[in-house]
This record gives sequence, structure tokens and C-alpha cells, in this order.
Amino acid sequence: MKAWRDRGREDDDEKLAALEAAGIELDPPPRGHDHADGLPHDHPHPHQHSSAGEPPLIGIVGAGSVGSALGVALTRAGWPIAAVASRDAVRRERFRELVGGTRAFVEVTPLLDEVELIILAVPDDAVPTVAEGIRLYSGQALIHTSGALGVEVLEPAMAAGTQIGSFHPLVAFADLERAVAALHGATVAVEGDDQLVAMLADMARAIGADPVRLAPGTKAAYHAAAVLAAGGFVALLDAIAELGRVAGLDEAGSLAIYGPLIEQTLGNARALGIRAALTGPMTRGDIGTLERHLATLATDAPDVLPLYRAAAEREIALAEARGALTPDVSGRLRTALANTP
Ligand SMILES: NC(=O)c1ccc[n+]([C@@H]2O[C@H](COP(=O)([O-])OP(=O)(O)OC[C@H]3O[C@@H](n4cnc5c(N)ncnc54)[C@H](OP(=O)(O)O)[C@@H]3O)[C@@H](O)[C@H]2O)c1
Repeated sequence: MKAWRDRGREDDDEKLAALEAAGIELDPPPRGHDHADGLPHDHPHPHQHSSAGEPPLIGIVGAGSVGSALGVALTRAGWPIAAVASRDAVRRERFRELVGGTRAFVEVTPLLDEVELIILAVPDDAVPTVAEGIRLYSGQALIHTSGALGVEVLEPAMAAGTQIGSFHPLVAFADLERAVAALHGATVAVEGDDQLVAMLADMARAIGADPVRLAPGTKAAYHAAAVLAAGGFVALLDAIAELGRVAGLDEAGSLAIYGPLIEQTLGNARALGIRAALTGPMTRGDIGTLERHLATLATDAPDVLPLYRAAAEREIALAEARGALTPDVSGRLRTALANTP
């Protein structure tokens, strides 16, 4: 391990001493146990087990935004984290400060001896690579927290008697405490076999979230919708703020003015349905207003134009579906959109 762990190099020894002073174990030896036959085994099982009826022993791989927030939320909910693996000394230390009683490892392999449920909270692109480096023990389950990836990327880690799954909280993990709070009432998409899904659903409920089980093959669409709802909505807010600047508003001013309108629209959609919540020039067939918008956008905020146009096309289709536009009017709205400079 641990390129810098060679004793004798002064700076390495200093780092090691600082970590030891912070109580961080760097790949500590497994706690171990005796085998009944007294013979050496290559350990096809973890060394530690939870008691019957207790939550599983959990290990988290990756002490980033999701790993840390889940570590805090699960521990507070009485699902303690037995171990964490993080390659970064600062993140390991922070995790141990946030989540007491956790053994900290640099690498994943020694963590496997300590836990029954392994949560891979690493970037999507790293999930397959990390999974390829894991060989599960019988009785263990490996899950990832990605919304975009299916469970099949974890298959290389499987052995007889193991399970794979996923646990994707529909939460934007921008800030630790805000994310922990947001898990209450959030949705968590769970995947796996029936037994694992039941356990993951319990885990979701323990942190105050509502589990949903996705139909096989639908994960990418589910996640694309989530990305539109979070990042896509932020992009929309940014475009709103850019137009607000044209009108002399700063960002806070735009949020203060348009925020209540957004909340009202969301409330209308919840109460009346999405189609009925649509208001604005596209529902009325106000071609002159649309043309004035397009003209000012082309001049003052050309970056916003493609987004406005894409939204307007969708709005026209919605208004048509509601029966609010005659084919003639919707045709003229579409012509105005197409003629934008
Ligand atoms: N952020 C969100 O809002 C959100 C919401 C729901 C789900 N998710 C999903 O949760 C997962 C983690 O996202 P995140 O936002 O927590 O990411 P993150 O903050 O970037 O943290 C990921 C952690 O993974 C570790 N890591 C990075 N590259 C690695 C590699 N090649 N091999 C091993 N470990 C590596 C790093 O930990 P160390 O350096 O400490 O080892 C890093 O702290 C992703 O699958 C993401 O799609 C994210």
C-alpha cells in the first residue's frame, strides 16, 4: 500500500504519525477469528457478522459527498458503519470525525473482511473498475449508489452466495447536513434480488426515505429525469437569472421575483396535473408576444435562445394536447420559432 508508508523517510513518518495521532488505522490487520478445524483457510467469508435481527455490518467505499452523507445518516439511524475505505487521508479523517467507531482503510480489500454490506460510493466511471478489484465472500452484498448504472456492472465481484444491488437516493448531495436532512422524505431507488431489495428498503426507511423498486431496464430513463429535475432545473434558473440581468435584476433579485412563480407553478402541477398547470403565451396563441420574446432574446441574451425555443416547442405540444390551440395557431407559433434569427 500506500506509497508513502516506508518508514525512514522523514516526511512519510510525519504523515504516518499525524494519522496515527488522529486514530486512523491504515489497513489494520483483520480482527480475525479461529476456525473450528484449526486449519488455514483462504477465508471465503467475512470475519465479522451482525447478530440476527440487527442491521448488517456496513462498509462504505469512497468518503466523498454521498459516502459521507450516507455514513452520517445511517449511523444516526442506528445502522452503524463498521468500516470506510478512502484513498485520501483528509477525507478518511473527516469521515472518522463524522462517523464514530469506524475502521478506516486505504484500500477496499481489507474492508471486505469487516463487513457484510459494501456500499460503493465512487464516481460512476470508477464503479466498474472498483468492482473488478473486489471478490465478495459468500453472504456479502455489494451495492452502488449510482442512478445511471445498472447492477450488472457489479457482476465481476460476485462469487457463490453473494448479492449485488443498488441504492440511489434522489437527493442533490451538495452539502453534508443539507443532504442528510434531505434524505428524510426523499426517494431511494433500490435494485437487487427480492431479499436484498427488502433489506435495502428497510435501510432507506431507516434514514427517513421512501424506497421505490425500478422495473428492469428503466434506470437510465429514471436517472435522466432526475438530472433534468436537478441539474436541468439549475440550468433553467441560470437562464432566468440571465434574462433578469437584462431587466436590471441581480441573481438574488431574480430568485426573489421568479422563485414564488416557480413554487406556484409546481403547486399548480401537483394540484391540477402538468398539462393543466401550463400558462403563458403558448397556451393563448399569443404570437406577437412570442415574437417580442424571441427578438429580445436574440439581441440581449442569445445564449438563452435555444433553451427558450426548446421549452416553447414543448409548451405548444402541451397546449395542443389540452385542446387550447387550433392547428392554424400552433402552426403560426411554430413558424415564429423557426424564423428566429
Ligand atoms: N452527488 C450527488 O448528488 C449524487 C446523488 C445520488 C447519487 N450519486 C452517486 O453516488 C456516487 C458517488 O458520488 P459522489 O457525488 O459522492 O462523488 P464524489 O463526491 O466525487 O466522491 C466519490 C469518492 O469516490 C472515491 N473515488 C474517486 N475515484 C475513485 C476511483 N477511481 N477508485 C476508487 N475510489 C474513487 C473518492 O474517494 P477517496 O478519494 O476518498 O477514495 C471520492 O471521494 C456516484 O455513483 C454518483 O452518481 C451522487
